[in-house]
Amino acid sequence: MTVRIRRATPADAAVLAAMEAACFAEPWSAAAVASDLTSATCRAWIAEIGGSSVGYLLGTQVVDEFTVARIASLPNARRCGIGRTLLRHAIGCAQADGVTSVFLEVRASNEAAIQLYTSAGFVVTRRRKGYYANGEDALDMRCDLNAEEPSP
Ligand SMILES: CC(C)(COP(=O)(O)OP(=O)(O)OC[C@H]1O[C@@H](n2cnc3c(N)ncnc32)[C@H](O)[C@@H]1OP(=O)(O)O)[C@@H](O)C(=O)NCCC(=O)NCCS
Repeated sequence: MTVRIRRATPADAAVLAAMEAACFAEPWSAAAVASDLTSATCRAWIAEIGGSSVGYLLGTQVVDEFTVARIASLPNARRCGIGRTLLRHAIGCAQADGVTSVFLEVRASNEAAIQLYTSAGFVVTRRRKGYYANGEDALDMRCDLNAEEPSP
């Protein structure tokens, strides 16, 4: 099974919105996805297997900081490495474009996502009590890409 990652463009809005609806209990609207894709700071990728879209990552890059806004793989395609491949690809592209830190927030109950992020080098920097509408906490996570020790 080969996962192919390609950049998403505004022409992919409907595809992304359909995956968003399939992956999240509170999905972004098609209009919100379309608007996001036209933003100059938006960076988005789609994962494909055999030509079919199976996952995506939406983020925002501002100078040397990248924020992951959404990452998902379709329910019937999970635990096959798609999420990790998307995250690695996005981080690699961001790093090549001068990004030094990657940020995201995640529901404290989202063990699958937290495991994915932790395995990719993210650490929790803050817990936001009652951040979500249902009262759930959010975890802020961060991954520094150039974590080399300064030269003596
Ligand atoms: C989180 C999500 C993107 C992971 O995608 P995925 O394609 O299943 O992830 P991968 O197969 O690449 O898994 C990579 C690692 O993540 C962790 N992981 C993934 N699913 C997991 C689960 N159900 N339980 C525990 N760890 C899990 C594991 O460490 C896994 O590595 P391993 O399989 O070698 O143990 C997917 O579960 C999803 O789309 N969830 C719904 C949307 C969502 O919550 N997105 C994140 C918030 S924006």
